Amino acid sequence: APDPDFSRAVIAWQKQHGRHALPWQNTRDAYRVWLSEIMLQQTQVAAVIPYYLRFLESFPTVADLAAAPSEQVMAHWSGLGYYSRARNLHRCAQIVMAEHGGQFSADPAVLETLPGIGRSTAAAISAFSYGTRAAILDGNVKRVFARVFGIDRFPGEKAVENEMWQRAVALLPDQDVEAYTQGLMDLGATLCTRNRPDCPRCPLANRCVAYQTGRTAQLPVRKPK
Ligand code: ADE
Repeated sequence: APDPDFSRAVIAWQKQHGRHALPWQNTRDAYRVWLSEIMLQQTQVAAVIPYYLRFLESFPTVADLAAAPSEQVMAHWSGLGYYSRARNLHRCAQIVMAEHGGQFSADPAVLETLPGIGRSTAAAISAFSYGTRAAILDGNVKRVFARVFGIDRFPGEKAVENEMWQRAVALLPDQDVEAYTQGLMDLGATLCTRNRPDCPRCPLANRCVAYQTGRTAQLPVRKPK
């Protein structure tokens, strides 16, 4: 990586201050990791936890989920919202059983071909399940990057998103990708929040353009009207 200090700071912070006891952590079962990442796409951790636990109790493996009737799967999702996630989840389980021998691939390019799995989710699943060196870029990470690098254009623009992907790939550490990936997520969720960033506790404050120039309230740039 061209800037090993960035990932070192994130990893060291994650090990000391990040989240380590979420129900989908401390497992390498790709089915569990996948299920958690889909639930977490548009829903906060606290809301996901009870759904995740009930889901696993009823569908302990991808084979169980694939074989379940759609109505039962939808009933377990009821209340989480964004129901296309549940339909894609069920279809994805059936494809993994029928076409992937019941295994989630360690290759994010393969995972990305499955329903409901975009580039960032594919990277998270492969990093957490297999330690694959793959870059994530979700909404939280976009906010962290916009501030740290002082990117003052709307991240919803394709060109800005492409630039952020390039940074995300370039910053990946050679080791400890799991801690790094979880650290980026945790920084965005717990310190580098939209409205009240806790910059004095942030391991990137010393190099954060937004913090150093007093622009955390202006970055990331909001959707232009
Ligand atoms: N949001 C998306 N993935 C997550 C994870 N693995 N842990 C916590 N929050 C997340």
